[in-house]
Amino acid sequence: MRSGPALDAQLRPAPRPASRHQIRTPLPPQSRPGHPFPARVIPRGLAPATPTSHPTNLGTARVRSRLLRMPLDSRDRWARAAAGWEARADWFRAATMPVTTWMIDAIQPQPGQQILDLAAGIGDVGFFAAELIEPGGELTTSDFVPEMLSAAQRRAERLKITNVRFRQMDANLPLDQPAASLDAVLCRWGYMLLNDGESALRDTRRVLKQDGTVALAAWTGPEDNLWSSAPVKILHDRGIIEPEGEPGGPGQFAWAREGEIEEHLESAGFVDNRVESVPFQFRFSDVEDWWAAQVQTSTRSADADAQMDTPTRQAVLADMADIAAAFEQDGGIVIPARTWVAAATV
Ligand SMILES: C[S@@+](CC[C@H](N)C(=O)[O-])C[C@H]1O[C@@H](n2cnc3c(N)ncnc32)[C@H](O)[C@@H]1O
Repeated sequence: MRSGPALDAQLRPAPRPASRHQIRTPLPPQSRPGHPFPARVIPRGLAPATPTSHPTNLGTARVRSRLLRMPLDSRDRWARAAAGWEARADWFRAATMPVTTWMIDAIQPQPGQQILDLAAGIGDVGFFAAELIEPGGELTTSDFVPEMLSAAQRRAERLKITNVRFRQMDANLPLDQPAASLDAVLCRWGYMLLNDGESALRDTRRVLKQDGTVALAAWTGPEDNLWSSAPVKILHDRGIIEPEGEPGGPGQFAWAREGEIEEHLESAGFVDNRVESVPFQFRFSDVEDWWAAQVQTSTRSADADAQMDTPTRQAVLADMADIAAAFEQDGGIVIPARTWVAAATV
């Protein structure tokens, strides 16, 4: 991977403080064997580019009026989470690099292409494609909350990504994009959050050109992703939060079942479907850092944190320390993560 100095600096690991976790109940090791991600095409990274100006489109009145019909709760939560995602951006970008690499490799970006990053959050996956489609290509970074798009815009400026425009798009609705207009669509950890992800995939297929590619990621199960599921389970078990949503409804692990993504891709009409799993890991300096990451990226946990008194928070952190004990490494905590990645063509 060719990486500019700015990217190198972002990927430098944070200093590691001494460990202070007490070992009580080690967890069993992760059982599922990993699939090493292929490295056929290596994205070039984010070398500085010559700045040019591109219009920013954060939504039209038509899109805005359609958005008003969306449940406010989900949008409100993501809007509130945007600051935390931005604060954690470099850490998240470094940790999730194997997933990004797989997805970029899958779409094989070429100069001149038009690419959409759907539910893009702070935009990192698409930003890796942006350089590869120069000259002449354009990335559209989209999300349904302006706060994420503003954060993405700031990141693009910082990373000197210039062939990108930003659009507010709600992926629960028909995409505000002409049919057969895009070469590739990226959607990392987005489809499973939607009311009807399969319908969104069908609409993704509509906006892709003949032979266009979709590349997506959706989390495998909570047992593979204790970095996220364990704090939520602790809060739940202690009666601090209620279970979220309806069973079988949208959510982080809604597409975790093996075979589910293949079924959705096939029903949506895609061919050459390829689904793999990518193991990676999140590194935290200590339990407090793990909790801080959780609070920064999840408004549910942030709301719980705001309501907790000191003894309750200490009890939650002690529960997390029990779990962290099994993952201590080099003075920090390294917790495994796993995601499905998939690619398919029109
Ligand atoms: C888990 S984050 C993933 C962000 C980014 N794709 C990444 O991998 O870093 C999910 C993102 O989906 C966005 N999102 C959730 N529901 C959406 C919807 N209906 N339409 C568009 N974006 C949505 C959220 O605002 C959030 O930025």
